[in-house]
Amino acid sequence: MAQANPTYTAAVIGVGKAGQDTGTRTGGFRIGYTHAETFKRNPRIQLTACADINADNLRAFMNRFGVSHGFTEYEAMLHEVKPDLVSIGTYVGWHRPMIEKAAEAGVKGILCEKPFVASPADLKAVQRIAQTTGVKIVVAHIRRYLPAFARARQLYNDGTIGRPVMCVAGIEGWDLSEWGSHWLDMFRFFHNDQPVKWVFGQLRVRDTRGFGHAMEDHGVAYFEFENGGKGLVDGGRGLNGGMTMALLGTQGSIRVLGEDTLVIQNAAGQCEERFPAEQFGGWTYAWDCLLNDLIQWVDGGDAPMTGLPNVSRSAELNLAAYISAVRGDRVDLPLEDDTDEWPVEIVARRRAQALDVRS
Ligand SMILES: NC(=O)c1ccc[n+]([C@@H]2O[C@H](COP(=O)([O-])OP(=O)(O)OC[C@H]3O[C@@H](n4cnc5c(N)ncnc54)[C@H](O)[C@@H]3O)[C@@H](O)[C@H]2O)c1
Repeated sequence: MAQANPTYTAAVIGVGKAGQDTGTRTGGFRIGYTHAETFKRNPRIQLTACADINADNLRAFMNRFGVSHGFTEYEAMLHEVKPDLVSIGTYVGWHRPMIEKAAEAGVKGILCEKPFVASPADLKAVQRIAQTTGVKIVVAHIRRYLPAFARARQLYNDGTIGRPVMCVAGIEGWDLSEWGSHWLDMFRFFHNDQPVKWVFGQLRVRDTRGFGHAMEDHGVAYFEFENGGKGLVDGGRGLNGGMTMALLGTQGSIRVLGEDTLVIQNAAGQCEERFPAEQFGGWTYAWDCLLNDLIQWVDGGDAPMTGLPNVSRSAELNLAAYISAVRGDRVDLPLEDDTDEWPVEIVARRRAQALDVRS
């Protein structure tokens, strides 16, 4: 008879930079530490192993979390340790091979970082391996679990500000993927994960590289959902008034300040709702929700909102915005495209070639 609440072994691949969190546009947030802390808090998980190509990072992580099995090759770890679950805290270009190898090695559940995959071809491949092996994959779109955003979604859809018109966000100094992927996913969440009909994307790409790939200095994605609601994510420039995002309805608006305060305006006037971290547990709560959702799915439950069947469409939207910039055209979804590299690299290469021709 199957154990009622089995314990699962877990491993972290890509443990994160040793030392302090010095996250910048080039990496160094050491999100693997957050994964490990989340595993450690969960009574149904035993963190047993880790893998990282950087021996210093590996050693620091093993000491910090008391993990005795450390590997500089993740494939060796998968075959020797055979963990039930793995988390992937490396950069986007590594996600597809790591997911494929983990699934082929018999891993049951994967917690993968965003941006999820590097190309439309990678997205198809990951969906294929999930189908053939049954591996359950959740993506770290943890903001879906924050109460301020859940409340904003409710108010955007229940008539408080009329009918949904548009969500707009601006991210000062960032991009459409390393940061923007959170808001692309969030705008799908606000629109109840309805299909996106089309997306326009445009990019300014210079020489910036970060997280192992070419990064736009400024990017914009503009898209429409099935119900006519629209999304606009400005990856690069913030919004006036210092707000994180605004949700506009036919009869009012919701401004999101930080990630914990809503200012609601409609014919009844203006009111503010706050969701302070100390009341619900903050980021720790969100990460625990994500891991618990993965565990219940691996146990045999339904796919959660952060599971591949749903959030693969956030990755599709993200990539489609880039493909739109590559094609110089609107892209209609579902995305029909076989590009097998990070699309921003294509834009970067074109610019370099154009500069070469001119010089
Ligand atoms: N969900 C979130 O809120 C959140 C927050 C921060 C970062 N992230 C994402 O996490 C990812 C990692 O970012 P970071 O800033 O934590 O990076 P980091 O630089 O701190 O850590 C990345 C780690 O991956 C290792 N690595 C690289 N290639 C590898 C390989 N082939 N095999 C094994 N290990 C490898 C590096 O040595 C390093 O230890 C990024 O995609 C980033 O967008 C997500």
